[in-house]
Formats: sequence, C-alpha cells, structure tokens
Amino acid sequence: MSLRGEPLPTRQANQAKPTRQSPATEPLLILHNIHRQFGETIILQGVNLTLNAGEAVAIVGPSGSGKSTLLHVAGLLDIPDQGTVELNGHNTAKLTDDARAKLRNTACGFVYQFHHLLREFTALENVALPSAIGGQPANLARAAELLASVGLAHRLHHLPTQLSGGEQQRVALARALMNQPQLLLADEPTGNLDPHTADAVTELLFELIAAQGMAALIVTHNPLLAARCYRQFTMHEGLLQPAETPSALRKKSIPSRRKT
Ligand SMILES: Nc1ncnc2c1ncn2[C@@H]1O[C@H](COP(=O)(O)OP(=O)(O)OP(=O)(O)O)[C@@H](O)[C@H]1O
Ligand SMILES: [Mg+2]
Repeated sequence: MSLRGEPLPTRQANQAKPTRQSPATEPLLILHNIHRQFGETIILQGVNLTLNAGEAVAIVGPSGSGKSTLLHVAGLLDIPDQGTVELNGHNTAKLTDDARAKLRNTACGFVYQFHHLLREFTALENVALPSAIGGQPANLARAAELLASVGLAHRLHHLPTQLSGGEQQRVALARALMNQPQLLLADEPTGNLDPHTADAVTELLFELIAAQGMAALIVTHNPLLAARCYRQFTMHEGLLQPAETPSALRKKSIPSRRKT
C-alpha cells in the first residue's frame, strides 16, 4: 500500500531501516530534572533529556508510565512541578503565558495520541488552524500543499468522520507541520493503525522529518518506529533510561565463556 499512490517497500520486523541521521550538536530541547505529579500520584520524578536540532528520539514504556505527560511538558502544553524546560535557548519558566504560547505555536508541532482533529472542520481547515492563531489569516494554500505531501490532495474537504483512521493520522501529521516547527512531538503516531498503514505512516513521518530538518520526540509502542530513531529511551518509574537496543540484547544473550 502507498500513502501517495506510489508503492512503499514493506519491511519485516527484523529489517527496520534505521534513519539514524547524525544529530547536530546544538541542543534544541533541554529537559532538566522534570518532576510532575497529579494529586498524590507522582508520575515524573527527575527526567533529564537533551535533544539536539534535527535529532529523532523515541520513548517507549508501559501504559500509564508518564510518556504523554512528559511529551506535554516538553511541548509546553503542561508546566512541571519542578525542573526546567529549555527550548530553543529560552528558559520557558521565565516566559509569560503569552510568550510561552507563542513559542509553542512557532517551535513545536504536536501529533496527539488520539489525533484531536476538530470534528466540525474539514481536513484542510484542521491543517490550516495553527497558522490562524494570533489573528493571522489561515494559510490555506500551505495547508493544501501539506495535505498533498501526505497523499491527501483528494480529501481536502472531507470532515474527520469521513476519513479513515490512517487518513486522520496523516491529517494530524500535516497539521503538526503547518508552522514549520523545529520540534515535532508525536504521541503514538501509529498507535491506532493496522500494521501495514503504521509502516507507511512511519515511512512518511521520517521522510518529513528529514525533509524539514526537524528534531522529533516520538512516543511509541511500535518497535520498527523506535528503531528508526537515533536514540531510544524507556520510561521507567518516572525516569528515562536508555532503552535496551536489539544489539545490546543480543550481546547479553551470548553466554559468557567459562575459564577452564
Ligand atoms: N490530568 C491528570 N490528572 C490526574 N492523573 C493524570 C492526569 N494525566 C495523567 N494522569 C495519570 O498519570 C499517569 C501517566 O499518564 P500518561 O498519559 O502520561 O501515561 P502514558 O505513559 O502516556 O500511557 P499510555 O501508553 O497508556 O498512553 C496515568 O496513571 C494517568 O492516569
Ligand atoms: Mg500516552
């Protein structure tokens, strides 16, 4: 199947093509000692992460471990109880609410876990929406171009309920790219898709990341998608730890030689 009418190669699970573009050395996002709790429940307890410009990083981990919570903090949708979020050289704790919202809108693109398309708006209007924030006229021409780039030129005027799950996910991806973000935050972008569509959306996601030179923080349960990222982390007990890569696991499984 293809998202653009042209065949995309399908890969077996053990043939993930790592993108692993070498990251720039310039930090774009620095999360330092992030704590977040809801009521008495501690979710994040000292998360540290530095993401360089142009670098794609995956976060995996069990349900309820705090992955979405961390993504919301990183994307300035939520404020940590402790710790600092530095984005594009700004210590975001020192910004006013308006300045933080502006930085979020210009620097970050969000693909939400349940894509959050507005039901009463067409695909074109949903994608154009981020450009209209701040009293600017919506940039419908760019929205149409983005929808074409994700293979949906023929679905511009469809409402979300008239689109398939994969199509809705691609609209959400196009919307995240509307303001040419430096940082893409994607929360299980293939989570609700069948394996074949998930593979095609993954392919498209990395094409777009490379084309736009964005950094990406991607929460996923999809091992193929995680393997395409430069680094992988696991959320465990409110902290991020480097994930065990397949090669590290292979090394572990080789029995150590006994001295005779
Ligand atoms: N606003 C909130 N108020 C209270 N508890 C919350 C709130 N948001 C999240 N939580 C709790 O925080 C925990 C972590 O939630 P989060 O959505 O970050 O998990 P997740 O790792 O993304 O899980 P999943 O893989 O299922 O999406 C959950 O136990 C959730 O119930
Ligand atoms: Mg989540």
